[in-house]
Amino acid sequence: MNQLDHPTGAPAPATTSAVTAPGDGSVAQWTDRYAHAVMDTFGPPQRVLVRGEGAYVWDADGKRYLDLLAGIAVNALGHAHPTLTAAVSAQLGTLGHVSNFFGTPTQIALAERLLALAEAPEGSRVFFTNSGTEANEAAFKMARRNRGDGYRTRVLALQGGFHGRSMGALALTSKAAYREPFEPLPGGVEFVAFDDVPALEEAFSPAAVAERGEVAALVVEPVQGEAGVRSLSPGYLVAARELTARHGALLVLDEVQTGVGRTGSWFAYQQQEVGGGIVPDVVTLAKGLGGGFPVGAVVAYGERAATLLGRGQHGTTFGGNPVAAAAALATLGVIERDDLLQNVRTVGGLLRDGISSAGNPLVAGVRGRGLLLAVQLTRPVAADVARAALDAGFVVNAVAPDAIRLAPPLILTPDQARDVVAFFAAVAVPEDPAAAATGPSAPGAADPASTTAPTTRSS
Ligand SMILES: Cc1ncc(COP(=O)(O)O)c(C=O)c1O
Repeated sequence: MNQLDHPTGAPAPATTSAVTAPGDGSVAQWTDRYAHAVMDTFGPPQRVLVRGEGAYVWDADGKRYLDLLAGIAVNALGHAHPTLTAAVSAQLGTLGHVSNFFGTPTQIALAERLLALAEAPEGSRVFFTNSGTEANEAAFKMARRNRGDGYRTRVLALQGGFHGRSMGALALTSKAAYREPFEPLPGGVEFVAFDDVPALEEAFSPAAVAERGEVAALVVEPVQGEAGVRSLSPGYLVAARELTARHGALLVLDEVQTGVGRTGSWFAYQQQEVGGGIVPDVVTLAKGLGGGFPVGAVVAYGERAATLLGRGQHGTTFGGNPVAAAAALATLGVIERDDLLQNVRTVGGLLRDGISSAGNPLVAGVRGRGLLLAVQLTRPVAADVARAALDAGFVVNAVAPDAIRLAPPLILTPDQARDVVAFFAAVAVPEDPAAAATGPSAPGAADPASTTAPTTRSS
């Protein structure tokens, strides 16, 4: 395994100066300062990181890690990618921000690029945001404007789904622990069972419509990320498209985590086994789009969806910011130029096959698509495995008590994937006699309601 500590520690980037440098310190010192300065919504940081390059990051003590989480499915090009760095620097040095009273070439070019990648029909349009939650917030507002032949308040979302932390996006998120402290949330959201076509049909049934009204929108992640990397069965989205179209409801795909190449295609729904050839009404994006720079987008397919929000009905100061747009254009450009979609499929396959066939009794299997994977464990020891990984020089995420999420940069190489396989082949967590008495957890879908420990928290 090639996980050497960085020999020279962690040098400050060459461009920092006395004005901008944050100062020096060890991981322990920074962690202490964090506790006194940063609001405690995430728990203590696992490490304090100071530098990144390619698929590696270094902490303040100079230890190197292979980053298999990429800032939770964000750093598509890894860290400090020269093309991305140059594009952001050039744009910031040319025109850093304008209000939405003005357009910029980067913003317009990015909108056109996204529409082309989405193969969106005539009349489609893009709205830019700064994050995934804001993209879903905008989609929620579009749903409220989908009035059809009368006012519609019903918005369907899936159990286990995660759509963000702002009040509207939180209303679409099913996990009680996230929702309950902030109720009342925007109303009208109904949760339907995950991957259950009859349950969806029931929500659109004449009885449901007579009792609660027509549905304004259905919001779905093609692969549920925060719930433990859970895929919908082939055919689910086709049924969802058929029902929503028949009832004039919007089909909103939350591709915040799955989009921008993460699953091996530009958007996950574009894979035949996932989307079955459907065209959605709305796709929300963020995370990987800016390669690490905050940017999100709502792609509205066709004239009807694209005109639901009229002038003055929605806005954001930073959305469409030219630097963010330049970052996204650079990210998309490198993914295409370097054929990273193929890399995602190849390296994702190596990880999947390698880890599942390594014969470690702690590993029940690997699920997911491309480079959005979950290693299902045979015992609820994901937090221990994540700690062992960190000690061995790998950043992973305990997405559920018994599942480890891998969402590495799309540039991960086959050799790096082999290092990961070697780790999972060897990792061992001693059996806890007390836990052993109650038996191993059942392999299969993770329970999102129990992912509350700091090591299993989501974004
Ligand atoms: C599917 C999905 N939607 C929305 C969000 C929220 O995005 P953000 O954290 O950028 O607000 C996330 C974040 O994990 C996500 O995975």
